[in-house]
This record gives sequence, C-alpha cells and structure tokens, in this order.
Amino acid sequence: MQEQIEKIKAEVEAFDLNGSEAHAEAYRLKFLVRKGVIATLFDELKSVPKEEKGSVGKMLNDLKRFAEQKLESAKAATSNAPAEESLIDLTLTGRRQFLGAEHPVQKVLSDMKRIFYGMGFTLRSGPEIELDDYNFTKLNFPAGHPARDMQDTFFIRKSESGKGESGKDDVVLRTHTSPVQVRTMLSEKPPIRVICPGKVYRNEAVSARSYCVFHQIEGLYVDTGVTFADLKATIYSFAKQMFGSEVKLRFRPSYFPFTEPSAETDVSCYICGGKGCKVCKQSGWLEILGCGMVHPNVLRNCGIDPEIYSGYAFGMGVERTAMLRYGVDDIRVFFENDVRMLSQFE
Ligand code: DAH
Repeated sequence: MQEQIEKIKAEVEAFDLNGSEAHAEAYRLKFLVRKGVIATLFDELKSVPKEEKGSVGKMLNDLKRFAEQKLESAKAATSNAPAEESLIDLTLTGRRQFLGAEHPVQKVLSDMKRIFYGMGFTLRSGPEIELDDYNFTKLNFPAGHPARDMQDTFFIRKSESGKGESGKDDVVLRTHTSPVQVRTMLSEKPPIRVICPGKVYRNEAVSARSYCVFHQIEGLYVDTGVTFADLKATIYSFAKQMFGSEVKLRFRPSYFPFTEPSAETDVSCYICGGKGCKVCKQSGWLEILGCGMVHPNVLRNCGIDPEIYSGYAFGMGVERTAMLRYGVDDIRVFFENDVRMLSQFE
C-alpha cells in the first residue's frame, strides 16, 4: 500500500499542468474526483491491517492535500497571468500623426481669392493643357508673335500650319491663365465678373527667379459701360486689402495683344514703404500685375459685340508675392515639396 501511495505521489508530481485549463481538468479527473485515483486508495484503506492504518491513512491524507495544493497553485498562476490588453507596452514612443498644412503659395492665392470674392467676382477654371487657339489666337496674338515660339511655350502638338499632322489644332501647356477668359466669354453672356486662378507653364531657363511652372490669377469683367476707371478702382481696392492700406499704386503704359490700352501696375514697396531697398532694387516700387481694357478683337473672337460691351482684364503672378511675404529667395523651393520647408507653414 505504501509503495502504491509513493507511486501515485510521483505521478502527481510529474503531471504537467502546463498552465492550461484543459490540463488542469484532466488532472482533477484523474486524481481528485470521487472515483479518482486517490479516492480509490482511500477505499482500499479498509483492507490495511489495523496497526498500519494510522500511518497509511496519514500518508494518504498528505497525498490528497499535496495533489489539491498542486492544482490550486496552478489555477492561481493562470488567473494571475497578464490579460491580453496589458501586454501593450505603454512606455513605447507613440506614432506621431502628421497634419498637412496649406502650401505658402496656396495661402497667398486664398487671400487673393477671398478679396475678389468680396468684390463680387466668382471662380472659373480651365485646363492646363490648352488649345493654341484659346491660349494665343483668340487672344489676338499675331501669327509670328515671339510667345508662340517653341523657346517660350511647351507645345504638346505643333505643326507649321497651326494644324497638327492630322489636321488637328495645336495644343500647348497654357502659358497664362488668360485662355480661361476666352472659355468664359464663349460659354457665358455678360455681365461676366470672374477670377481664374491656376498653374501656367513657360519654357524658360530654371533659376532662383523663374521656374517652368508657376501660378497666376486672372480677372475679367465684361458688361455695358465698363471703363478704365472701374479697373483702377478694383485694383486699388485689391492692393490695399492685400498689401496694406498705406500702399500707393502706379499704372505704367504697357502692351499686351489682348488689351487696349494696356498697363502694368506697381505697388509702392511694402518692404521699405517706398524709400528704396534691396527688394525693390532702390526703385520704391514692386510690379504686381498686367491689365487693360479687353481688346475689341478679343470680345469679337468670343462672340461678344464690342459696340455694346466693354470689359477690363488683369493677370498676376502668385509666387512673387509669396516669396516677398515669407522671405523666400528661391522660387524653386515652392515646387520641391521638401517637408523641411513645408512644415514651417503648419
Ligand atoms: N497674361 C499676361 C501674362 O501672362 C498677364 C495679363 C496681362 C493678363 C494683362 C491680363 C491682362 O488679363 O489684361 O503675362
């Protein structure tokens, strides 16, 4: 009997509970239930000689307690095991969420748009891949105009005749936003009061001051009785809101094929207040835009009768203002998408 008890004790000791509930249950069924191995030994106690009963009984009780304790401590160990969630290491560095920021060029463009919306202009847009006809011909560019040269314009399709090989029209990357004027006038009737912002492309040598792509914003107002005075008032109002109420304006006579008369507009340098500095090259003035009264040929080309209607138009670059506002001295950084630059505008 003692031997048997020793053997069962060794079995209890050797039983691998393995931290799992299934193993623990198998162990309980084997040793600890009413018909289990240990209970059976207790039954056999009856047949043990009287004088040994005391010591064998004690051995059996020890075995039973030993077996029960083994199960209890195994259960305690599993229930103390860390729950799934607490396996997350709270001391690890978090993953940073990066927020995008408005590009400095778009910031300036947004300001410009907001000012014109306040004056009753609405938004129009056109494609960057544009018909030569809209980019040049309908805007009254003569056939041999230098802007039509491959040196200045990216042609997507070009032929000697102005028609592609298969008789299709020449196609360019628009060199200015003025073709959106044409598209608007062809599809809408006056009164027209629109702004057209967007990217334009020029086949120029890339440098700190000029890039092959940049942004312009175009303005067009066509109605009965529109005069140069309306144009000046609009530009004045825009310039004061954009560059400060102190700025002065200067209109210099100029030439564009699509306007007559034409002018270029300067604002008094808002860096030095007009005294003269490095930025304005000591002149006290900064050029901001080209403008003029829409040429009668352009109105006619777009199906608007110049005997009834007149209009003004203007176009201005966006990058130069962004460069001055943010003290950027190389236009190329606006197009490189380097986060070290962009994140400064978050
Ligand atoms: N399109 C001209 C340019 O790219 C700018 C311009 C000048 C636009 C006069 C106009 C305008 O609408 O009237 O340089």
